[in-house]
Amino acid sequence: MLKLFLLFFLSLSLLPFISCSDDYESFVYAGCSETKYTPGSPYQLNVESLLTSLSKAAESSTYANDTSSTASSADPAYGLFQCRADLPISDCDSCIRSALSQLSALCPAATGGGVQLRSCFLRYDKESFIGKPDNTLLYKRCGGAAAGGYASNIFGMRDAALGSLTTAPPTGGSYRVGGAGYVQAMAQCVGDLSPQECSDCVESAVAQVKAACGFAVGADVYLGKCYLQYWSNGAYPSRHDHVDETGKTLAIIIGILAAVALILVFLSFIRRAGSRGKY
Ligand SMILES: *[C@@H]1O[C@H](CO)[C@@H](O)[C@H](O)[C@H]1NC(C)=O
Repeated sequence: MLKLFLLFFLSLSLLPFISCSDDYESFVYAGCSETKYTPGSPYQLNVESLLTSLSKAAESSTYANDTSSTASSADPAYGLFQCRADLPISDCDSCIRSALSQLSALCPAATGGGVQLRSCFLRYDKESFIGKPDNTLLYKRCGGAAAGGYASNIFGMRDAALGSLTTAPPTGGSYRVGGAGYVQAMAQCVGDLSPQECSDCVESAVAQVKAACGFAVGADVYLGKCYLQYWSNGAYPSRHDHVDETGKTLAIIIGILAAVALILVFLSFIRRAGSRGKY
């Protein structure tokens, strides 16, 4: 019994630890070009000045694009960043700093690279991609499958929640939130898209998330110029993190075992108390 109680407290103490990793700067994905630039080349200097200017822009805005050709106009470097548009500027700034340091560590000397953290995205390249829609699926994360009575109505809610993101008026912003019943959803486009292009990207994301994560109670999909997330209250709480789901399941199982143990102790106590009363 004692062992079970110990485990129970252990699992309780694990829980806050798990939710801590649900961080707005947590890593989602990164991509690097296969081609590398020559160290010391004018293009490298352009990339460096581009990234410096983007990191300056993040001190005052949640979106910016830039082109740098100061070192050589023949080899310009193009780049942009987008924070989740509801993020306070100070958090955006810190997210972009983190993205920049991860990008240089993950993509050393790459002619192009991009990194998506939970609430910001940053990319640079040798070819201009600014203002160009891109609905390519780059990364997806599917939650567990809906089960039991929950499954019967969750897909209707999911479809309604996702639909509310695409029916935003043409003047809809780059950041969209929606929901239906237990299901909440959000989408963020990169700020270089027009409202119509953003709606098209989100629409494509909706179709791709349904195809890729058909029965999931929650999922994230990241396209070239937009991303979308949906989650179900209570069923998929840690939607953004890299939490070890097995660890969490184990904690829940241990919690249930501990509860059963408590009930057994209680029952045997009652039985003993009852029999004591008899004699
Ligand atoms: C790029 O940035 C400039 C200002 O730096 C802005 O005027 C322009 O609209 C931006 N272009 C796009 C496609 O977002």
